[in-house]
Amino acid sequence: MRTPFEEALKNRIIPVVAIHAAENADPLADALIKGGLPCAEITFRTQAAEAVIRTLAKRGDILVGAGTVLTIDQAKTALDAGANFIVSPGFSEKVVEFCLDQAIPVTPGVCTPTDIQRALDLGLTLLKFFPAEATGGLKTLKAICAPYTMMNLIPTGGINANNLCDYLAHPQVPAIGGSWMVKSALIAERRFDDVTRLTREALALAATVSAA
Ligand code: 3PG
Repeated sequence: MRTPFEEALKNRIIPVVAIHAAENADPLADALIKGGLPCAEITFRTQAAEAVIRTLAKRGDILVGAGTVLTIDQAKTALDAGANFIVSPGFSEKVVEFCLDQAIPVTPGVCTPTDIQRALDLGLTLLKFFPAEATGGLKTLKAICAPYTMMNLIPTGGINANNLCDYLAHPQVPAIGGSWMVKSALIAERRFDDVTRLTREALALAATVSAA
C-alpha cells in the first residue's frame, strides 16, 4: 500500500512554501486544492511554520509536509504539529535516523555522490536534489544519478514552469519541488487566484510528460 506521501508524488509537483502569516494557511490550502494539488511543504523558514502545519494537518484534505528541517527538534515539532513528511535541504544522519524511527517519510537533500552514498547506507531511495539549478541542473542530475540506478531524486531549487518538464522526463525523477506557484509575495498579497492559476498551469505541464 502506498503511503500518503507516495500518493502525493503521483501529482509530480511539491509546492515549497515559506509563509509568514498563519491566517493565510487556509486560503493557501484552498487555492492549492482548487488548482488540483492537495499538497504543501511548509518550510521552517518563518515563525509561522509550526502553526501553519498544524492548521493544514487538521483539515484532512491536504497533505502537509515540513521543509527546511535542520534539527531533530524541528523534526519533533513538525511531527507533533501533524506533518506527513519531512524534507531537509541537506543530509543529516541524525534527522534521518529520527524520522526512520518515527516511521515518517523523510527526504533529505543531496547534491553529490558522497551524499547519495550516505543516504544509501541508511536505506533511503528517495532524496531531494538541492539546489538543482545552482548545482548544474539536469546535466549534473543525470551524471550523479547514473551510478545509483536504485535512487529517485526530487530536484528542487530553481525549478519553474520553464524547466519542470525537462526534469520530469528523467526516469529517476518522480517529482519536482518548487516555490514559484506559492511565492511568499503571492501569499502575503493574498493573490490566491494566482496561486490556483500557476498551480493548474504547472500540473498541465507535468501531465505532458509521461510518468517516471
Ligand atoms: C527549497 O527549500 O526546497 C527551495 O528553496 C525551493 O527552491 P525554489 O524557491 O527555487 O523553488
